[in-house]
Amino acid sequence: MRQRIDVGGSHGYPLFLGVPLEELGSYLENRYGAKGHYLVITNPIIADLYSEKLMEGLKNFRTDLITVPDSEEEKSLDRISKLTEQALRCRADRDTMVLALGGGVIGDLAGFFASIFVRGIRYIHIPTTLLAQIDSSIGGKVAVNHPSGKNLLGSFYPPQAVWTDYSTLTTLPWEEIQNGLAETIKHALVADSMLFEFIEDHTADILNRDPKIMKELAMRSMAVKVKIVTEDEKEKGNRILLNLGHSFGHALETDAKYKGVSHGQGVSIGLVAIANLAFERNLLSEKQLVRIVDLLEKLGLPTYITDSDPQSLLQHMLVDKKNKAGNKILILPVGIGKSSIATDCEDEEIVRAWKKIMK
Ligand SMILES: NC(=O)c1ccc[n+]([C@@H]2O[C@H](COP(=O)([O-])OP(=O)(O)OC[C@H]3O[C@@H](n4cnc5c(N)ncnc54)[C@H](O)[C@@H]3O)[C@@H](O)[C@H]2O)c1
Repeated sequence: MRQRIDVGGSHGYPLFLGVPLEELGSYLENRYGAKGHYLVITNPIIADLYSEKLMEGLKNFRTDLITVPDSEEEKSLDRISKLTEQALRCRADRDTMVLALGGGVIGDLAGFFASIFVRGIRYIHIPTTLLAQIDSSIGGKVAVNHPSGKNLLGSFYPPQAVWTDYSTLTTLPWEEIQNGLAETIKHALVADSMLFEFIEDHTADILNRDPKIMKELAMRSMAVKVKIVTEDEKEKGNRILLNLGHSFGHALETDAKYKGVSHGQGVSIGLVAIANLAFERNLLSEKQLVRIVDLLEKLGLPTYITDSDPQSLLQHMLVDKKNKAGNKILILPVGIGKSSIATDCEDEEIVRAWKKIMK
């Protein structure tokens, strides 16, 4: 079933859900006219699977396709520079529109490229992973990584639209579904205890990738994100709650130099670390802590670390871009379905939380 949800804010945009890739072309023609230059940015895996379908609908336009190697490491300034050269070779100009076909890596990279190429051109997200569909394509954050930290260079740059074809999930490897599930559990912990219970009640269906349950899960998870980013477009208030588990998770990803720890794995371990810290502060009961760890484990997500150094992980957390005036900002779960912002977490507390999840 097709659905449209509008993300509000000063630069609102529509999310088109359950729409076939090949129909994007006729939407573009109706919305922006029969002429136009479209620059599809994707990676070779996604191009093999879906570019033909997408291009089918775009055949009346001048369209160029650029592929970027498939890796989180490609979210870099070096890649932005290469994209600039490629776009210029395709005669891209201020009227060109970028179509970001892929998961969160392509979305963040192509969106950031769109935000700075000739001082900003329009772009549309076409998310093909669960994580991108429920999370990264919504909210207008685009970024690349820097050796000093993840997503350190970026901007708020909303897309023109998000075009979500759920059928792309059928080719997504299970490990990538798990990455999306980590963010879904985060959404539930931040703001929706009923979503948490829904996931607990349907772990078997989720493991079997039951399409009906997966769609409901995606819709409910997306709704949490849409509500929060509509109320707080530029992260001046409650949007920062969506960072739950991410300060710890990003530290792990940075420590692993973005290799070997996926974003979802980082978030999963980060959720357990911060849940332990919240438990120590009596914000979470032991039963709630166990429920969180159990749910992540039932879905096959990692919940502990083995060979990392807590002190070096702490150092990575000190350059987290959420920090303000030298204070670390951490989001703490308060029971299940509520969260709060903490500015007073001591280094020792953080190191203790890392140690608690070390085996
Ligand atoms: N901007 C935001 O608000 C935001 C929010 C959360 C995460 N992120 C970012 O998102 C990134 C992670 O995104 P991701 O989890 O989508 O990973 P990803 O983009 O790396 O995609 C995961 C893998 O799945 C493959 N793939 C994508 N779609 C496929 C499909 N339909 N079928 C088969 N294979 C497919 C990709 O080639 C890749 O190998 C991180 O860089 C993270 O920082 C951004």
